[in-house]
Amino acid sequence: MAQMKESSNHEVAIVTGASSGIGEAAARLLARHGYRVVLMARRKERLEALAQELSVIGEQALAIPADLSKLEDIQHAVAECIERFGRIDVLVNNAGFGRLSWLEQLDPVTDIQALLQVNLLGLIWMTQAVLPQMIRQRRGHIINIASMAGYIATPTYSIYAASKFGVRGFTDALRREVGVFGIKVSGVYPGGVATEFNHHAGIQRKTGATTPEWLKLSAEDVAEAIYRLVRQPRRQVILPWPMYFAIGLNTLLPGVIDFAVQKLFVEPERLK
Ligand SMILES: NC(=O)c1ccc[n+]([C@@H]2O[C@H](COP(=O)([O-])OP(=O)(O)OC[C@H]3O[C@@H](n4cnc5c(N)ncnc54)[C@H](OP(=O)(O)O)[C@@H]3O)[C@@H](O)[C@H]2O)c1
Repeated sequence: MAQMKESSNHEVAIVTGASSGIGEAAARLLARHGYRVVLMARRKERLEALAQELSVIGEQALAIPADLSKLEDIQHAVAECIERFGRIDVLVNNAGFGRLSWLEQLDPVTDIQALLQVNLLGLIWMTQAVLPQMIRQRRGHIINIASMAGYIATPTYSIYAASKFGVRGFTDALRREVGVFGIKVSGVYPGGVATEFNHHAGIQRKTGATTPEWLKLSAEDVAEAIYRLVRQPRRQVILPWPMYFAIGLNTLLPGVIDFAVQKLFVEPERLK
């Protein structure tokens, strides 16, 4: 996965979860670099406003409101994209959310099922829907936005981590399945990003434990990493770079991490 690709004027990129945060920033950057961008998410007004804005700064952008937990929405959106543009060069599988609480406090359906449905199943369905077109083209690039939680599982992230570990496994297996057709598959593993994510995640902390400001990424930081991947496909991107050390530590010394997490986070949160 080494060759450098020039951005082109008529390539088509689908971005899911384009109504805010990382997806919105990635869509903006791709449009600025000449991509025709297809915007998917549920909030129609936001998508339409963004599509209008992008059509002014770049090529045509298309808003397709869709709920990623619904197979028919996904199939309809991909069909509309192919009908309109006749090709799909890049899929940024970004839509997702967190419900970050202790397992026994999560609702089995509205939290657990809903999260897995969007973060994992929706991403898989989206990928499956674009694949026939990419195989016909003998090219394409699927970029899956996972999370540091796809490498390091922490308390209150159990279901979110399950979804992102799932995304990582899916990404790695798919890369090995479709490479023969000239299709690239990449995983993106960001740490904390300042977006609407936390607002929807329902986090309640006595300790106030959170990603320190100096480690926090902006949506634009992640969008730039996505665009660099589009230009130069790689297996994965982990960001910010100190996260490589965190992954190494978690892999080499899991018992120490278990102990530290219990003493520094779980006991103060649950027993005091
Ligand atoms: N923020 C972080 O700290 C962080 C860190 C690592 C990874 N990530 C991952 O990055 C991705 C983007 O998150 P973000 O931080 O940019 O959060 P965000 O600003 O809340 O954006 C989430 C996007 O997902 C869309 N979405 C949620 N449920 C959907 C559904 N059922 N159908 C269609 N679209 C849906 C939302 O659109 P609608 O509500 O309009 O549908 C929105 O556009 C997620 O996969 C997240 O897990 C985030």
